[in-house]
Parts: sequence; structure tokens; C-alpha cells
Amino acid sequence: MGTKSERERNFSWIKLIFFFIGLGFYPSFFYCKKIKIRIIKIIFFNYKTMLKQNDLLLANLIEEELQRQENEIELIASENYASQDIMEACWTILTNKYSEWYIGKRYYAWQEVIDKIEGLAISRAREIFGAEYINVQPLSWSPANLAVFLWVLKPGDKILWLSLDQGGHLSHGHPMNFSWILYEIIPYFLDKKTEIIDMDEVERLALENKPKLILAWFSAYSWELDWKRFRSIADSVWAILMADISHIAGLIAGWVLENPVPYCDIVTTTTHKTLRWPRWAIIMSKKEFEKDIARAVFPWVQWGPHEHIIAAKAVAFKEALMPEFKVYSKQVVENAQTLASELQKYWFRIVSGWTTNHLILVDVFWSFNVTGKQAEIALEKAWISCNKNMIPYDPRKPLDPSWIRLWTPAITTRWFKENEVKIVAKIIFEAIKNHENEEILKGLKNEILELCKKFPIYK
Ligand SMILES: Cc1ncc(COP(=O)(O)O)c(C=O)c1O
Repeated sequence: MGTKSERERNFSWIKLIFFFIGLGFYPSFFYCKKIKIRIIKIIFFNYKTMLKQNDLLLANLIEEELQRQENEIELIASENYASQDIMEACWTILTNKYSEWYIGKRYYAWQEVIDKIEGLAISRAREIFGAEYINVQPLSWSPANLAVFLWVLKPGDKILWLSLDQGGHLSHGHPMNFSWILYEIIPYFLDKKTEIIDMDEVERLALENKPKLILAWFSAYSWELDWKRFRSIADSVWAILMADISHIAGLIAGWVLENPVPYCDIVTTTTHKTLRWPRWAIIMSKKEFEKDIARAVFPWVQWGPHEHIIAAKAVAFKEALMPEFKVYSKQVVENAQTLASELQKYWFRIVSGWTTNHLILVDVFWSFNVTGKQAEIALEKAWISCNKNMIPYDPRKPLDPSWIRLWTPAITTRWFKENEVKIVAKIIFEAIKNHENEEILKGLKNEILELCKKFPIYK
């Protein structure tokens, strides 16, 4: 964007003359406002190249990363592509404003516009999830979670949650995390045979331990959660029911999965996974918790909210309210199911037998005697990103486990459908089968490059 003097320096009359000559050849140009504005900015104000002029080293690194994202297949769970509109909103003068506290009661002056932006983000989020209270200020999920736990729990209180090695997330349940240090953790597990959460066991553990909080959540699990059953278990022991829907928020917004907000006391989510929004988080709850959650976020855990990102969230919420987002979310699950069934045809064992969401957990060790780490490296050489993971009751170690985790939201943002997903499944099979053959892996990389060229993300 640049300061005023930078913009004047970049203005060129010769460019202006060529611009108007060019316009004569493209009458439809007049009707496409968005393209017109972008092209005017690029031609006259070197809009995109400002960083290149002032910090070439950094600009080149960003360009390098852009090329990587354009040219590889992204199957790492949690990574997706935010739209250009969202990135444009992140990149605004709103970053200049301090606006601690909440709408109507900020500490500093001149908050009218900021209040309207934050209000817009909240009202759009409410339209999606229907929560009575929504806090859009958390800087990411981890501080959002810290705020909720500090408010709800006292040190030593018991929490019942999905065990880390069964599909939980490192941000909970790792001995180095504050949650492990401050609270008593009671893990629940998957059924050994079905590899689906054993709700009878959740109930038994709840009745036996009387936890203060039950957390329904996952980071590596491919079945729907039974919200109704979680609610009734929480009610039977007077526990608070919290859901972390970081992984499935987009599928809920796209009406593919059931919304847990009516069942839960508190719902938290990141905003950059299936939602493909800016890297951020929100907290939702019943109205009665508003005061406590608001205070826990600010000033207990964090100070000035990042209003430029809140503005980007408002853009993102609008995108999620569009009919296309429902088409996208449905396609995410269809692609995951196509990938799962294709991999099964190649004799891969799918953990839990199937997927009803966007995740596929593949037991590569059982299938091909290749470890999760070896599979991850082979796929990276073929320009497919994924991550190794423990399977429930995995006999192997966390840093070299038995399975890999795949997800389909990013390839669906590129608009991959059945045909492309079948090609990806074939390449995964070839790469893992030939994980020690550099020549074959190189050939597979070229196939991936060709495929990506046909489905660009930002170009
Ligand atoms: C279920 C779940 N919750 C929380 C997080 C952490 O979110 P953040 O990186 O915003 O702290 C993750 C990250 O992948 C996750 O999978």
C-alpha cells in the first residue's frame, strides 16, 4: 500500500497513457470492479511490489513459499488457503489502532469504526453458529482455551478428555502443557475393535471421577461426535460440557455436520482449518457466561485485540454464509470419502474403517510395513504434504508411529473433485510402495506439478 510519498513516487504518466489505450481493447474490463481496482493498484502504485522494493530478501522468501504452496498437494491436517479478500482485510490500517476492552466500553478514544467492525464480525458469526454470546478477540485457540480454563476451573480440578494418543491434540494432554500441570486429567479412549469413541466408557469414567469439565474434541478422528450423549453424561455428573470444534467448524458452518452449540456450555474453535479463515480463534457460550468469559479473555489472558484480523474474520464469516461455502463443505467430505475408498482399493487400512468428516487416518505400517515417518518423507519427495501420527493403541513410538493423517479441505479449496482425488490416491500408493526409489518419487513429483498447474490457488 505504501505511504503517500511512496505512492506519489510510484505514479507514472506513461503507465497512465498505456492503461487507457489498453482499456479500449477490453470493454468488459469496465464491468469487473474488483479486477479493475487490483490492476490499477498494481500498475500505478506498484501495489504488489512495494515489499520487493523495500525488503527484497523477505519478499523473495514469501514468493518462494507461495510457489511451494501453489505446486504441492496439501494434505496436512489443519492447513488450508485463505481467500485474497481475507488477506486483503488482514493487511489494513486497522493494525494501527489500540482497542482493548469491548464494544461500547473501550479504554481509548475514537472507537466508533472499530466497534462497528467487531460488531459486524460477531453478528455474522452468530448467524452461522447461533450462539448467544461470541467473543472474537482471542489471538488463537491456545489463549482462548487458557481463558476458559482459568475461568471455569481451579488448580487440581478434574477434566475428562480424549486421550492424546487416541486422537487428542498436543495443546491438551501433553505433560509440558499448562493443562497437565494445573489440572487432573482423566483421558477417555476409543473402542479397541471399532476405533470409535467408546461413549459407555466416557459415561463410566464420568460417574467414577465426577469431573468439573468434560471436553468433546479431537485432532485426529474421523467420526462424528455424539453431542446429545455428551450432554446427557455431563448433566448426570453436573459437569460443564465444552466442545473444541477447531477441526470441524467449517463443516458445521457448511451444514454438513451437526452444530454442537445448542448442546454445549462453551464452544471454542480455531478459524483457519476447515473454515479457511485468518489464523485466529473464537469462544461461544450461553449468555449467562458472557461476563466471565469476557473478563477471562481480557484482561486475564491478553490485551489489545488485533482488529485487522477481526475485520478479516468478518470477511470470512460472510464467505461462510454464502451458498458456495455449503457446496465446498459437502465436497470436502465427498473428497475425503473418495480418498478413503480409493486407498482401501490399494490395500491401505483406514483407521476406524471409514470417514464421515474431512480426515482420513491411514495405518501404513499394517498395510505396507512402512512406518509413518518413512511414508511422510516419501510423500514429501513426491510433493505431497501430510503428517505422521500415532494410531490408537499404537505399538510404535510417537516420533515414528504407524500411521499418517490426511485431510481434504485444502485440495477442495483448489476444487479437486473425484477424478483428481483418484489421481492423488494412486500417487500416495505409488510413493509409499516405492518409498526407497528416488527415480520413481521424482516422476511422481512431476505428475503432481502438472496436476497443481491445472488447479492454481491464487494465480
Ligand atoms: C483440535 C485442536 N484444537 C486446538 C488446536 C490449536 O490451535 P492454535 O494453533 O490456534 O492454538 C489445534 C491445532 O491443530 C487442534 O487440532
